[in-house]
Amino acid sequence: MQPTSTEVPRPRFHFTPRRHWMNDPNGLVHHGGLWHLYFQHNPEGLDWGNMSWGHATSPDLQHWTEHPVALAHRTGEQIFSGSVVASRADCDVLTAYYTSAYDDGHQAQSRATSDDGGFTWRTDPGNPVLDRGTIAFRDPKVIRYDDGHAARWVMLTVEADDRQVLLYVSHDLRSWEYLSTIGPLGATGVVWECPDLVKLPLDGDTDDPRWVLLLSTNPVGDDPDPAGSSMHYIVGYFDGTTFVPDFPELRRLDHGRDYYAAVTFDDAPGREAVTIGWMSNWRYAHAFPTAPWRGAMSLPRTLTLRTVQGRATLVQAPPAFVREHLEHAASTSVAVVDRPAELSLTGHSLLELRWDPASTGTLRMQLRGAADAFVDLEHAPGTGSLRLTRGGPAAEAVHPDFPSTTTVPLPGDRPARLLLSLDGPLLEVFVADGEETASNLVLLGAEGVIASLETARPGTVHVTAVDVEAPTDVALPAPAAVLS
Ligand code: FRU
Repeated sequence: MQPTSTEVPRPRFHFTPRRHWMNDPNGLVHHGGLWHLYFQHNPEGLDWGNMSWGHATSPDLQHWTEHPVALAHRTGEQIFSGSVVASRADCDVLTAYYTSAYDDGHQAQSRATSDDGGFTWRTDPGNPVLDRGTIAFRDPKVIRYDDGHAARWVMLTVEADDRQVLLYVSHDLRSWEYLSTIGPLGATGVVWECPDLVKLPLDGDTDDPRWVLLLSTNPVGDDPDPAGSSMHYIVGYFDGTTFVPDFPELRRLDHGRDYYAAVTFDDAPGREAVTIGWMSNWRYAHAFPTAPWRGAMSLPRTLTLRTVQGRATLVQAPPAFVREHLEHAASTSVAVVDRPAELSLTGHSLLELRWDPASTGTLRMQLRGAADAFVDLEHAPGTGSLRLTRGGPAAEAVHPDFPSTTTVPLPGDRPARLLLSLDGPLLEVFVADGEETASNLVLLGAEGVIASLETARPGTVHVTAVDVEAPTDVALPAPAAVLS
């Protein structure tokens, strides 16, 4: 039987809208000491429609306050995804670019400005300001390009159906000139959505930066891939005009089923690249049984670029507050002998596991709660990967494509480290501080979760577990109880 919405607890340390539908993060910007998160929102219902920009802010990326709708749909026009930048010349003005999705089917880029720090917006009377007369021209992401000689604004947009990213340049954030096109490349049978282009030093060397193209792809057509939406990246070089990939190949950014449309914040402190993604999948987003809200954001992640096996690889670290919660927790060494060790968690929990696959052999962890469903994690050293399975009758009832097994690269020949963030229906797995990630919606019920852990051979698994308190509770996070 499909779980009712009351059995899917609202996340405590992730953003969810108070009410109604949410998809992509939009307009991510750090401004006036606050992280601003705008989001694709239906202010009138639990399903996609009437698309508008909702708005929330956070001082610390953990606690969010929702504000009134920032950009509302109007007759004949929905407000699709886009971005916000803080003008470097006049610090008090924010400029938003979004897609006007007109009822006649055509899509073009529009502009709005805010001079009260992002709370109220004035749309430009000249909108749309960038229009090709096409039907899938969307998701403007404006970035700052500054090579020390010349600074400029660059806008990335997609022609979604053509699997192309189009780049434009501006000096005044008002008029735009075409620069170049990326793609088509990679798999056919998908649309390209929500691009971003991020400059990152390779292995911390600021004299040796690369540019990373972030891209979301969603299957379309007569026989779409049932795995649905996913995110990818390409590492390359950008000279302010043209992006040249190292290898013209899309690499998987997150191995789970529910991580989409992630982009970076503009003007983050220390010029760090911080992302947030939408934790769902267009395949079944409409069917996930929550109310009075539907849609959740991921944990924020800090991006870096590290050489792994000779290739520049994107690393996505969890936010500082996750580390801080874990540091307050008592670390527990669990000796797994002849029966599974069990941890009792609230289900709003952070869990770090360290073990040596060479001595333990296969490690299995199952998560179960009151719902008639399960989540299994299994690492068999010989496979070089972690398998994540979600299943059971309640999972099957969501949508035929909801039950799934996904694999995450995890070598078996050296000590392994996993960080699991479980917050109600949101499970995010970070391998080795984010060298690989996997994000999945899960159904476990509302009355706490038992994590049972077993290994093929007797051995020690070091476990650090902490339950995160509800936002209204200011007490330090309590360590999770270890049952056996
Ligand atoms: C991606 C997307 C965007 C579009 C928005 C509409 O999830 O399809 O391409 O702007 O959602 O809500």
